[in-house]
Amino acid sequence: MNANILIVDDEKNIREGLRLVLKKDNHTVFLAPDGSEAISILKNNEIDLVITDLKMPNMDGENLLAYIMKDFPGIPVIVLTGHGTVETAVKAMRDGAYDFLTKPLNIEKLSIIVERALSKRLLEIENRKLQSKLSIYFGNLIGKSERMASVLNIVEQVAPTKASVLVLGENGVGKELVANLIKDLSTRNDKPFIKLHCSALSESLLESELFGHEKGAFTGAVKSKKGRFELADGGTIFLDEIGEISHTIQIKLLRILQEKTFERVGGESTLSVDVRIIAATNRDLKKEVDEGRFREDLYYRLNVVQVVVPPLRERKDDIPLLISHFLLELCRENNKSIFEITNKAKNALYNYSWPGNVRELRNAIESAVVLTKDAVIDIDDLPPHLRGEEDGVDYMKIKMPVKMDEIEKQAILFTLKLSKGNKTMAAELLNMNRKTLYTKLNEYEYEKHEAIIS
Ligand SMILES: Nc1ncnc2c1ncn2[C@@H]1O[C@H](COP(=O)(O)OP(=O)(O)OP(=O)(O)O)[C@@H](O)[C@H]1O
Ligand SMILES: [Mg+2]
Repeated sequence: MNANILIVDDEKNIREGLRLVLKKDNHTVFLAPDGSEAISILKNNEIDLVITDLKMPNMDGENLLAYIMKDFPGIPVIVLTGHGTVETAVKAMRDGAYDFLTKPLNIEKLSIIVERALSKRLLEIENRKLQSKLSIYFGNLIGKSERMASVLNIVEQVAPTKASVLVLGENGVGKELVANLIKDLSTRNDKPFIKLHCSALSESLLESELFGHEKGAFTGAVKSKKGRFELADGGTIFLDEIGEISHTIQIKLLRILQEKTFERVGGESTLSVDVRIIAATNRDLKKEVDEGRFREDLYYRLNVVQVVVPPLRERKDDIPLLISHFLLELCRENNKSIFEITNKAKNALYNYSWPGNVRELRNAIESAVVLTKDAVIDIDDLPPHLRGEEDGVDYMKIKMPVKMDEIEKQAILFTLKLSKGNKTMAAELLNMNRKTLYTKLNEYEYEKHEAIIS
């Protein structure tokens, strides 16, 4: 990074010495003999890094540091301290300095610390740009790939309506974030937003959670209790893992969707609510319907608008952004200052196929942040299974047990991904007759699926 660096010291020799060193590294250098001049330079230039002495006439380094922390909190400050004044350095660090250097200066150490501080600065600038560009529309959802843009397009369109939304996608792709965003962009954003993981509860518990119960409805029902639908009245309910609910609950949900009415468990009176429903699942819900496990009428009611969140391996453009986002977030959370990921590590993160999607990526960065001993994340800090895929080999992961035709389907779809949708090439790679491939793709409703998400 070519940076603007401000050097503040009352000793001319030190200023000039530092200037020579930093100029050699292609940085633009600004000089000030004290804090007050430093401030006027800060106000008039885009400074990326300040290196300041502590003891100076007019305004000293401590006051300058406090001023920068308050008015330019993104600019890292390195303080210079005289020999034997470690306590002052420690205090400056506590007050927010990025690092310190003791005089006489060790040039090599200086360069390393400067580069590190600048990577931190760069990361913050990137992140701020990203935030200001994306946050208005995307909330917490990071992404710039075309695939995510079309997801967000649908989200923006559907959010202000009352339509039920079905969010589909593999584990960890961000379905819950999408649901949050729909709520945030809706006219109900200041109304209750109730979430329920349908798979976490037994059928009877789920029923009483959703619809509430009257006192004495079952053993243990010592008081009557409102259900989530009542709590969500006027607002939005998010039913996560909807693919897991039993037939009995499916019927009750259908009724709420059709008539907006229900009864509490053990209750006589019919209650009525106005609730917008967002549901999510990582199952292929259409298939659940075809195979008789999920009611078709409920499926159509939930599926008024469908949002398919694509897996991370199909939107690799998003990986670099996600990495820098998670790195900043996790450094903050873990009180660490890691400001660099080596290219080798970046490549490994990019090339991996991420079966666990964004959640898995976040976890990988988290473990690297926690485990690394220095301020740099290198390939060795990444989970072992991520390190091997640098050779560009693709692997398919299949959850066992599995039916043979499912293996075939996965292999075909995966190969199509590798061939970027080119069917002739895919047929060749699979050593499969093109016609057979087309027939299979028809069976999988490949075109329809692609149309929804692309
Ligand atoms: N686009 C994104 N930008 C930033 N963070 C993301 C993004 N997508 C997912 N995440 C993060 O990844 C993790 C998983 O996201 P989320 O819980 O929304 O996924 P999910 O699809 O609901 O997963 P599951 O199928 O396991 O329920 C969360 O920590 C979330 O904050
Ligand atoms: Mg989820």
